[in-house]
Amino acid sequence: MPSATTDSGIFGGNDIARPQTKRIPYSGSLDAFVQNDLAPIIGREYEGVQVVDLLEADDRVVRDLAVTVSERGVVFLRDQNVTPTQMKDLMLRLTRLSGCPESSGLHVHPLTEEGSELGDQVSVISSEKQAKGGGLTHQLSDVSRFASNAWHADISFEPVPSDYAMLKIHTLPATGGDTLWASGYEIYDRLSAPMQRMLEGLTATHDAKFFLDEAKNLGNPIREGQRGSPLNHGAELAAVHPVIRTNPVTGWRSVYVNKGFTKRINGVTKDESDVLLAYLFNLVTQNHDAQVRFRWRKNDLAIWDNRSTWHCATYDYAEARAGDRVCSLGEAPYLDLSSTGRRDAKGP
Ligand code: SIN
Repeated sequence: MPSATTDSGIFGGNDIARPQTKRIPYSGSLDAFVQNDLAPIIGREYEGVQVVDLLEADDRVVRDLAVTVSERGVVFLRDQNVTPTQMKDLMLRLTRLSGCPESSGLHVHPLTEEGSELGDQVSVISSEKQAKGGGLTHQLSDVSRFASNAWHADISFEPVPSDYAMLKIHTLPATGGDTLWASGYEIYDRLSAPMQRMLEGLTATHDAKFFLDEAKNLGNPIREGQRGSPLNHGAELAAVHPVIRTNPVTGWRSVYVNKGFTKRINGVTKDESDVLLAYLFNLVTQNHDAQVRFRWRKNDLAIWDNRSTWHCATYDYAEARAGDRVCSLGEAPYLDLSSTGRRDAKGP
């Protein structure tokens, strides 16, 4: 469980997946490509960048890509001719060049079938599989009529959650199936200073026990062995993280609770936790000026920073939609007490 260590100026973290704030500078190597910021706060699309070329590129280029993803939250690359194995290769280079702890590798999702065709470290995102598992696939379910219930940061239920994720969508409905991302930096900056101070001393419990039911529906046992880090294993599928975390690549603070997995803010009453979480989730879902919405075309690829963004798929279609996702693991979440918000670092 994270604790305040005033000597080191760090709240949270873990010695095995040790946090270190690096504030990696961008060297300018991607400036040669045409780029388009899709919203002022979040999202950038590059033209003419292929993952297969990045695999051959200098470390400087791949590090710059990591820095750009961490600063802009999510980067989009159109029409990628790339295999799941090449996606894994780039993901590993990206996380290592941006300074992930040595013990962190690529995540094995608890629902990934043993011996699956694409390998343990590729999650198949498939509307058909989700429907079979009983996951949220349509906003008009009996449980809820809010499409916004699906906002989350990937695998925050792991003690060492994801730093980066990469998704390529290869099968698409004629229309629909967009994905939205929102900026955790911006939501932190929209909190008043007293609210920031209060949340900075709190942790929250993230829990994905609902995957145990999904695993039963799918007829596969949950993956209980190591899931990409010595700290991620077992069937508990729960972790405690600081409510506000520092992104080690940018050095900026972000809110780190999400609708999908965060069940409880600790150290306050359940009533207080419910009110605080509802307020934070509303900030994410009701501020469309902190979001970007991406309309996929076949074989488009997105790379995002799960430490400082949330995302939400849109289940507004009936046909098949499918793709491959790879998640790398970063550090155990921590708050560096010397870090600042994005606006303080960069200006409005
Ligand atoms: C995900 O939640 O990682 C997948 C998003 C999507 O299917 O658009």
